[in-house]
Amino acid sequence: MTPGPKSRALAATLRQFESPNVTFLADDGSFPIFWEEAHGCTVTDADGQAYLDLTAAFGVASVGHTNPAVAAAIAAQAQKLIHGMGDVHPSRVKVALAQKLSALTPGDLGGALLGTSGGDAVEAALKTARVFTGKPGVVAFTGGYHGLNLGALAVTWRADFREPFAGQIAPFAVHKPYGEFLTELPDGVGAVLVEAIQGRGGIVVPPPGWLESLKALCEKSGAVLILDEIFTGWGRTGDWFACEHEGVVPDILCVGKALGGGLPISACLARPDVMAAWGVSTGEALHTSTFLGNPLCCAAALASLGELERLAAPGLARERGAFFIEQLERLQSQFPTKIRGVRGRGLMLGIQLTSAFAGELMVQLLHRGVIVLPAGDGDILEFTPPLVISEEEITHAVTQLKLVLS
Ligand SMILES: Cc1ncc(COP(=O)(O)O)c(C=O)c1O
Repeated sequence: MTPGPKSRALAATLRQFESPNVTFLADDGSFPIFWEEAHGCTVTDADGQAYLDLTAAFGVASVGHTNPAVAAAIAAQAQKLIHGMGDVHPSRVKVALAQKLSALTPGDLGGALLGTSGGDAVEAALKTARVFTGKPGVVAFTGGYHGLNLGALAVTWRADFREPFAGQIAPFAVHKPYGEFLTELPDGVGAVLVEAIQGRGGIVVPPPGWLESLKALCEKSGAVLILDEIFTGWGRTGDWFACEHEGVVPDILCVGKALGGGLPISACLARPDVMAAWGVSTGEALHTSTFLGNPLCCAAALASLGELERLAAPGLARERGAFFIEQLERLQSQFPTKIRGVRGRGLMLGIQLTSAFAGELMVQLLHRGVIVLPAGDGDILEFTPPLVISEEEITHAVTQLKLVLS
C-alpha cells in the first residue's frame, strides 16, 4: 500500500508552493500520503486507501478523528459566531471554556490564558512565571520539547532545532538531565519547566518521586513549577493529568493538543495568586493575540472535553494501554535483537529499538496501512493512538509491526 497517484501528484504540487523545509517529500514518492478524511482511528488518503492511525495526529485526536460531537459543536458554532474579540468583547463560549478548564484541572489551577498552539501556552507560562517571581531564569531538561516559537525554543532541548537560530534565542534557560534529582536551583531561576513524561524526547517516564522533588525544590527556592502537559494531558497517560500519578499539583500548567478535539487551542493555567501577578487589565492586555479565545475553537474544546468525560478517558487509556503494552512486551521477547524495551503509561507508549531505525519502520508500516511516528533520537517508535482505539485495532497494528520486524 504505497502512496497512490493522487498523493504523488499532490506532493509534486506542494513541492512547488510550500516552503521547502516543512513537509518531507521523498523523491521516489514513497512518503507521505495526503489525508482526505479521518474518523475514529481510521485515516483515508486522497487515493481512497485506509490507514490505522497510531499517532492521533501528534496526540491530538484523543476522542477520535472527526468526533461526531466535536464536529456537531463546530458546525453549530459556525452558524452563530466564528470569530470574536477575545480580550475586548469576548464570546460566551470563551467564558464557558475558562470555567470548564478550572473545573477539570488539578488543585485550584485556573485563570486561563488561552492560546492557539502548545508553544503559545509555554510562552504564556514562561511570562507568567517571570511576572510572579521577578526572576527570568528557567531550568528545563535534556530531551525536553516545548515548541518552536523563539521563547519556547529557549527551553526545548534539541540542538538541530536551535542552532539555525543562534543569536535569536534568549539565554535565560539552563538544561539539567531529565530524571536526575536536583539539590538546588541556580541563581536567578524563577521557574522549573518540565514534561511529566517526555513525548517527542522518546516517551521517557521519570523515576518515581522526581516530580515531587522538583515541586519541593521550587517551594524551597521561591520558584514555580511549570508542568507541560500538552501531550500527556486529558487522560492520555491513564490519569486526567500525568502529574496526578505522582500526586503533584504544579503552580502553572500548560495544556493543548487534545483540548480542541482537532481545532487549534491551548491554555496556560496557574494557581490564583500566581496568575494574579499579571494585575488587572486597564485596557491593554500584556499578553494576547488576535485569535485568543476564538469562539469556534472554544466550542470545539468544550465538546472535546465533554467527550473525554463521557468516555472516561483516563480509564480507557489505562485499559487499552495495558492491552497494548502486553502485546508489545510479547513482541519484544520475540525480537530481542531489535527491541530493547517497552515503555510509557496509558496510551502514551513506545518501543526502544536497539538502533535508530524507527524512521525506516515508519515508512514500512505506512506501506502496510499503519501510521506511526519516530521519537527520541530515531531509536523510539511511538504509539499515541486515539483513546478510542479498539483491541482489534491494537492487535492488527502489532501484527503489522511483527511483519515488518521479521
Ligand atoms: C510536550 C509538548 N509541549 C509543547 C509542544 C508544542 O506544541 P505545538 O506544536 O502545538 O506548538 C509539544 C508538541 O509536540 C509537546 O509535545
